[in-house]
Amino acid sequence: KRPSAVAILGCGTVGGATAALLLSQRSMLAAKTGLDIELRYIVDKDFSHAESLNLDPGLFETELDKVLADPDVLAVVELIGGTGIARTLTEKILRAGKRVVTANKALLAKHGAELMAVAREAGVSISFEASCGGGIPILRALYDGILPNRIDAFYGIVNGTCNYILTEMMQKGNSYQEALKEAQEAGLAEADPTLDVTGGDSAHKLAIMSSLAFAQRVDLESVPVQGIDSLKLIDLNFGRELGYVVKLLAIAQSEEDGLALRVRPAFISTEHPLAWVSGPFNAVSVYGHAVGHTMYYGRGAGGSPTASAVTADIISSCMGTADTVFSTLNIWPDRTKKAVLLPQ
Ligand code: HSE
Repeated sequence: KRPSAVAILGCGTVGGATAALLLSQRSMLAAKTGLDIELRYIVDKDFSHAESLNLDPGLFETELDKVLADPDVLAVVELIGGTGIARTLTEKILRAGKRVVTANKALLAKHGAELMAVAREAGVSISFEASCGGGIPILRALYDGILPNRIDAFYGIVNGTCNYILTEMMQKGNSYQEALKEAQEAGLAEADPTLDVTGGDSAHKLAIMSSLAFAQRVDLESVPVQGIDSLKLIDLNFGRELGYVVKLLAIAQSEEDGLALRVRPAFISTEHPLAWVSGPFNAVSVYGHAVGHTMYYGRGAGGSPTASAVTADIISSCMGTADTVFSTLNIWPDRTKKAVLLPQ
């Protein structure tokens, strides 16, 4: 039987955690899936930072071409991040006929349609569960578990860094800067944390989830976005005195004449379940016309939770189910299905 070999591109927080998960759970995964998934390569420019990960140096590879020429490699996991080199390399991987697994929400929100077109042409899938909600299988819920529903609305906390900062400020009285530094040290924040705190990262996730929930293309630039970077401790304290906590929310409502999408900090009653979501956790409420209210909760950022979602996609890529889902479902609507965004 041909081995199911995979490669990880980018050995940072999520890359290292995914390698650790694949290597440590190889036999459990084989028992559960019937597949022996072999991590064969970890590709990066240099590995000076990888020493602490305790990985076999034999896995390290600097030449992506060598990996793409290996016929055993079924999937390549793109964990470089950003929209520059990550885009070029993702297209190259797809054109080489390898499935792509990615956690890169910025890349998908900006260039998703173009990448999906390349993937379709190449006849391979792109899987991106890890791009939204960290370890929570929120995308699988949208394109599988609750797919039969007309989605009326969804909203939630989709940035672990901001939620961590707000929690630290409100519960411990820590300063914004202190809390941000801790979030960076815990591996929650983006390489450029501006994306987290200005709401950009939440907007990327809102655009991706909206594409799946509403089968419409979302033009990221038209989504009004406000982050937590302008909030003051005094705002949070006033809210608390009145029985509210502040959370950064991504909100999507389907109206008769279009979609109302926005990212903004909101006062939430301390009685509301979203008020209990603290630290690096995320939670998303989704309203489907048949199922009613559903809610998804878990760790939304960090190496290990994100590696859980990445590895789920590696498994479906190796099993072939990712290809079936990708080629069968309208997983990324084309230009003709562009959403009408309502002014906010
Ligand atoms: N920086 C992101 C967050 C990582 O804090 O939520 C997970 O997408």
